[in-house]
Amino acid sequence: MSFLIGWLNQERRRKKFMLEAVVISEKDIEKLSERIYETHGYDFRGYAQASYKRRIHNVHFKLKCKNIQELSDKILNGRNLFDSFLAALSVPVTDMFRDPIFFRGLKTHVLPHLKSYPFFKIWHAGCATGEEVYSLAIFLQEAGLLQRAMIYATDFNPNALSRAKSGVIHKKDFNKSQINYKLAGGMKDLSHYGAFKNGDFVFEEQLREKMTFASHNLVQDGSFGVMNLILCRNTLIYFGKRVQMRVLRLFNDSLVHRGIFCLGFKESLDCIDEEQHFETWLLNEKIYKKRIRVKI
Ligand SMILES: C[S@@+](CC[C@H](N)C(=O)[O-])C[C@H]1O[C@@H](n2cnc3c(N)ncnc32)[C@H](O)[C@@H]1O
Repeated sequence: MSFLIGWLNQERRRKKFMLEAVVISEKDIEKLSERIYETHGYDFRGYAQASYKRRIHNVHFKLKCKNIQELSDKILNGRNLFDSFLAALSVPVTDMFRDPIFFRGLKTHVLPHLKSYPFFKIWHAGCATGEEVYSLAIFLQEAGLLQRAMIYATDFNPNALSRAKSGVIHKKDFNKSQINYKLAGGMKDLSHYGAFKNGDFVFEEQLREKMTFASHNLVQDGSFGVMNLILCRNTLIYFGKRVQMRVLRLFNDSLVHRGIFCLGFKESLDCIDEEQHFETWLLNEKIYKKRIRVKI
């Protein structure tokens, strides 16, 4: 046992040394981002530096590159490697009913508000593998509102989107999903909304009918239509201030009068003039309403 622990520690130190041994400067990252933009059209130039740099280091290590030039050549010359690079940068980490307090707030306050519309549109931006989308669809169904909804779910990671479309929860995640659902105020059993197939849980077709999954890059693309509710949770955190501002303006412009906007718990509206754009509706849940702009 002590031999195993010793070996693991040694391995950890070796990996740390390898990561630290390759010095990737800000300038290197800037150049790499420029070349990625020119070659593949993805714009990472405005991403928050610390986490972006950490992920580049990880890919560098995984692909066993000797220097940044080698990494750059590898990912710029092959579409397959670029797709893996994109997947490594995109962090599609999510959960069913992630932050149950937030979903409880949606259920208690936002759904009754949506009830006043005969028809409404929802945009999940940065939806990753779709768990957030299915979570809200379940609550809409329980409130008798799913038939009035059009749900758009977007991300720039094609692998994440195709998993989202398939509507599958891995067997190992099902219990946690069930617990989160109950904590968020779910009244049934999650298994009511689908069935186990080959060990994994697959959501029923009826839940998926109102969903459209599409590729959309928040840094570069325009509005997705006029929405009643926009959720962009745990995504802005990866962007630098300038990009955050652009994306928040895009959301503000994409909302109907008094439309609703939801952020992740670690995110804020600090980078834009909040007074001009949004007003806080539910403080703890990070749910906002589009502010009425008074023209003088
Ligand atoms: C941590 S996940 C958030 C998933 C979900 N919203 C949640 O809160 O559980 C962040 C997602 O943002 C996506 N993302 C990052 N940069 C993006 C961009 N420029 N345009 C669209 N999506 C982006 C990633 O691909 C990833 O799936």
